[in-house]
Parts: sequence; structure tokens; C-alpha cells
Amino acid sequence: MGNLIKVANKNDLAPGKAISASVNNKEIAIFNIDGKFYAIDNECTHAGGPLCEGELGGTTVTCPWHGATFDVASGAALGAPAFTGVCSYKVHVEGDEIKVEMP
Ligand code: FES
Repeated sequence: MGNLIKVANKNDLAPGKAISASVNNKEIAIFNIDGKFYAIDNECTHAGGPLCEGELGGTTVTCPWHGATFDVASGAALGAPAFTGVCSYKVHVEGDEIKVEMP
């Protein structure tokens, strides 16, 4: 297992919401989708848009800048103009704390 880094409390992240956190000098986007948490790189691989500000539909997030879509579970790029996926990270919930597992 990698390092577990606390990124938020559960209260900070209601279902349907996302936040970003700086972890090991990387910006990570953390999503709450129906009570399940997901973490991917916050920076869109097209031109750097902030994925935590994107619209969610199921487990798909749409980049707010030019509309590329990513799977928040795997980080895979699903739709243009981004063709490269982002890294995804395991999320652990311990009590009220949301932690991201960094490699
Ligand atoms: S920066 Fe995300 S689609 Fe362009």
C-alpha cells in the first residue's frame, strides 16, 4: 500500500460535489458520487482545465474548459478533445476522514 494522505473530512464533500487538494505537489480532484469517493488528477490532459469544477454525470466528469470527458473511477479519457487519461487513486475512508493512497 502507498502513503495514505488525508485530503478532506466527509462533511466537506457532500454527494454530487467535488473538491481539489494538493497532495505531494500534485492537484488531486476528489469526487463524492452517491456516497462513494473517487480521486483523479485535477488537471485535464487537454489544456489543464480543473476537473474538480466539471459537471458530473454518473461516474463521468466533463472538463469545464472544452468538454473532454473522463471516467472518475479509472481516470480514462472518454471523449475529445482529451485523448490521454489522468491518474486515478484509491480512496480510503477512515471514520470521518477521506484519505487518498499515493504511490
Ligand atoms: S482543458 Fe479540458 S477539455 Fe480542454
